[in-house]
Amino acid sequence: MPGVWGVVVAGGSGERYGAPKQFALLGGRPVVEWSVAACRPTCARVVLVLPAADPSLSAEHPPYGADVVVPGGATRAASVRAGLAAVPGDVDVVVVHDAARPLAPPALFESVVAAIEGGAAGAVCALPVSDTLKRTDHPLGDGTLPTVLATVDRSELVAVQTPQAFAAGVLRRAHASSPDATDDAALVEALGEIVRVVPGDPANLKVTAPVDLAFAEHRLAR
Ligand code: CTP
Ligand code: MG
Repeated sequence: MPGVWGVVVAGGSGERYGAPKQFALLGGRPVVEWSVAACRPTCARVVLVLPAADPSLSAEHPPYGADVVVPGGATRAASVRAGLAAVPGDVDVVVVHDAARPLAPPALFESVVAAIEGGAAGAVCALPVSDTLKRTDHPLGDGTLPTVLATVDRSELVAVQTPQAFAAGVLRRAHASSPDATDDAALVEALGEIVRVVPGDPANLKVTAPVDLAFAEHRLAR
């Protein structure tokens, strides 16, 4: 679609993985290359955001199958802003995708973009939560064992993935004051704009730790 651009954020350092996981090999190709390829059927152009020190930023041709490559920032939100700044002003819809989700089916991109074309300001893909959820008095893993305060009704909760699509102007407004958040939809929600949820895909796993890449290899092999 000519009015749809993708921004793939690959500017992280992969602390939990132990290395910049976006460059690890999956089926013989860098994870980030899969993530850019996933955008291709839906996005006219793909902007790739790389760590600021990445040597391929000065290469003659954009790497990993991207059309445009730019240096990222210190946070995910800052990296999205860097990518967004490279999207022309006349583009209607921007799809933001994490490089850490290499197996996102192209159908998810189509679904989130369709929601924007249907009038939403933002659209995320998400899955229902299957674990029982409890609120505790403090976070796990800080030394003392937390106490349960309540069991949370999970029926209205969803676990959100990328891709996420936005009306380009709304996304620019959402980022205008350089806010921070774990996803872009949170910033659009903060504007009071409508964000729709479309069904995600369990295959769209996020590579956070090395075990996740092993899962991804397994899925790819099937
Ligand atoms: N990301 C980015 N710029 C940053 C931080 C994150 O572009 N400053 C990207 C990552 O490369 C990743 C996506 O945002 O594709 C989701 O972030 P996450 O999975 O948290 O990756 P990292 O931040 O690299 O991992 P960690 O939090 O374990 O350090
Ligand atoms: Mg991170």
